[in-house]
Amino acid sequence: MIQLRIEMNRLRFMITTFLLFCCCSSLSCAQQPAPIPSPTPSLEYETAISLPEPRHDSDVSIEQSLLKRRSTRSYTGESITLQEVSQLLWAAQGITDSRGFRTAPSAGALYPLEVYVVAGDVENLASGVYKYEPRDHELSLIIDGDKRSELADAALAQSWVEEGALAMVFTAAYGRTTVKYGERGVRYVHMEVGHAAQNLCLQATAMGLGLVTVGAFHDEQVSELLNLPEDEKPLYIIPVGRK
Ligand SMILES: Cc1cc2nc3c(=O)[nH]c(=O)nc-3n(C[C@H](O)[C@H](O)[C@H](O)COP(=O)(O)O)c2cc1C
Repeated sequence: MIQLRIEMNRLRFMITTFLLFCCCSSLSCAQQPAPIPSPTPSLEYETAISLPEPRHDSDVSIEQSLLKRRSTRSYTGESITLQEVSQLLWAAQGITDSRGFRTAPSAGALYPLEVYVVAGDVENLASGVYKYEPRDHELSLIIDGDKRSELADAALAQSWVEEGALAMVFTAAYGRTTVKYGERGVRYVHMEVGHAAQNLCLQATAMGLGLVTVGAFHDEQVSELLNLPEDEKPLYIIPVGRK
C-alpha cells in the first residue's frame, strides 16, 4: 500500500513537472522579442524612396479622433504631401521599438501584413504602386503609373477608390502566422488588419484627411493589378484624400 502511494506521488510529480515545463516554454516563447521579418523578396524593387520622419505627437487627442472618425467617400481632388503619406504609413505599420515591434499588435510578432500605396496625387511622388518597407521607413516602387482607376474597377467601380489622392492596400501573407498557429492563424491575421486599419483611420482623422475602408473587391483582379506574390492576398483597400 505504501509502495503504491509512493508510486502515485512520483507519477503526480512527473505530470506536474511536465505541465510546468510546457507552460514555461510557451510563455517564454510568447515573450521573446521578434526578429524583424525581411521584406518579401522581389526582383522588381528598383527605386527606394525615403520617407520623411513621422511626428510622434499632435494637438489632436485620441478621443477627438475617435469622436470625429467617419467614412468619407468624397474628396476635394487636392494632392497630399509625402510627409502625410509617411505619417499614415507609420500609423498603420511603423516600427516603434528597437526589437521590431510595430504600432499595431501582431500575434507572435510575426507581422503577416504588407501595405501598398497606389499613389496618384502625392506631392513629390510619381504616380505608381509602391510597397511600404517598415524596417527602413521607405517606399519601393513596384509599378509605374496611376493605377487608381483600375483599382476602382477591381473594387466593383466604387468611385471613391479612384478619387482619393492615393489608396492604401493591405495584404497578408497568411503563412507567416499559420506556420506557428495553424488554422487559428487565419483568424489572427484578420484581427491584425483591423488593428492596422483602425490606426490608419484614427491617424487620418487627426490629420483632417478623409478615408473609407473598402472590403468589396475582386481578390484576383487586385492581386494581378498589384503584381502580388502568390502567397500574399489583398484584404483591404483604403482610399485617402482631402475632404
Ligand atoms: C470590413 C468592412 C468592409 C467595408 N467595405 C466597404 C466597401 O466596400 N465600400 C464602402 O463604401 N464602405 C465600406 N465599409 C465602410 C462601412 O460602410 C462604414 O464603416 C459604415 O457605413 C459605418 O460608417 P462609419 O465608418 O462612418 O462609422 C466597410 C467597412 C468595414 C468594417
